[in-house]
Amino acid sequence: MTLQSAAPGTRTHAPGLVSHMGPADLEAQLRRDAKEGLTAPDKSIPSKWFYDYTGSMLFDEITRLPEYYLTRAERQILRERAADIVADTRADTMVELGCGLSEKTKLLLDAFKRRGDLKRFLPFDVDGEVLKMAATELLERYPDLQVQGIVGDFERHLEAVKVPGTSLVIFLGSTIGNLNEEQRGSLLAQLSGALKSGDSFLLGMDLVKEVGVIEAAYNDSAGISAAFNLNILSVLNARLNGNFEIGSFEHLARFNPDTEQMEMFLRSTRAQRVRLADLDLEVEFAEGELLHTEISAKFRREGIEQELVSAGLEPRRWWTDAGTNFALSLSSKL
Ligand code: AVJ
Repeated sequence: MTLQSAAPGTRTHAPGLVSHMGPADLEAQLRRDAKEGLTAPDKSIPSKWFYDYTGSMLFDEITRLPEYYLTRAERQILRERAADIVADTRADTMVELGCGLSEKTKLLLDAFKRRGDLKRFLPFDVDGEVLKMAATELLERYPDLQVQGIVGDFERHLEAVKVPGTSLVIFLGSTIGNLNEEQRGSLLAQLSGALKSGDSFLLGMDLVKEVGVIEAAYNDSAGISAAFNLNILSVLNARLNGNFEIGSFEHLARFNPDTEQMEMFLRSTRAQRVRLADLDLEVEFAEGELLHTEISAKFRREGIEQELVSAGLEPRRWWTDAGTNFALSLSSKL
C-alpha cells in the first residue's frame, strides 16, 4: 500500500480510508473462528468478536467502573508523559492500532499539536464504519492533520502499512493482553518489520499485581463485565443465526497464577444443545462446561522488554502510574 499524501499546503477535508478487508472477509473469519472454536474439545471463541455495537458500549462502561483501574492508570501516565513521548519520538506520523477515538489518543494528539510536527494520523481498525466516525470527529478537532483510516486486521495487515517520514505506532489499553505469547511474538515481529530505523513504538500494558485487585476488575459488582462477556453469545446469535440462551450461561473470570493472565469463560449452567443455523452446526454443552472467551495477560517489565528485544525493537523508556498498576513502554526500531 502506498499512502496518498496531500499536495503541500493542502488541507484534508474528508477522511480517507484504505481497505485491506471488507465486511465479507470479517464474516468469513467469524464463521471459521466459530466453527473451529465450538467444535474443539475445549470450546473457545476469540475475544475480538466481543465488539459489536453493544459490546463496544459495554466495554466503554467497563472503563469507568471503580474496579477497572486500567484505563484511569493509563490516562494518568499519558497526562504526565505525553509531552515527553512526543519530544522523544519527533514523529510526523502517528499510527494507532485500534480506532483512535479515545481520550488517551487525544492526549497524544494534543501534545503533538503543541509542538506542531505531526502531519498524519493513521488509525487502524477492523471496522470501517467506526473508523469513518473516528476520523470525522478527529478532523474537526485537528483540522490541519491528515487523517487516514486503515481498515484491516493488525495481526495480518501491518506489513502493508508503509509510511514516509518518521512514525510513532501506538498500541494502548493493554489490548496486547488479549494475545497469547505466540500471537504477541508474531504481532511484534510484523510490527518491527514494518518500522524503519528511528521509528518508535508505544505500548500500554497492565502489570502483574495483587490477585484480588486484578480479579475485581473483571468481576465488578455492577455486573457489567458479566454482561460484556455474555454479549458474545448475542453476537453469535445475531451473526450466525444461533439460538444460545443467554440466561443459561454464567460469567467466570479468574487469574491463572502460572501464566499470569486473567482467563474469561462462559459456563453452561445446564446440559444443552445450541444450534447455529448459518453454520449448520449443533453444539452440545454439558452442565458446567466452559466456553473460553478471553485472556487478558498481565506483564512484568523484564518479560515484555525481552519480547520487544526478540522482535528487533529496543525498549528505551518505561513509565508507570503512581500506583504501579499500569505501564507505558517506548521502544525504537534499531
Ligand atoms: C480491552 C483487552 C484491554 O483485557 O482488560 C475488559 C477487555 N475484558 N473486561 C482487558 C476486557 C473484560 C480489556 N482490553
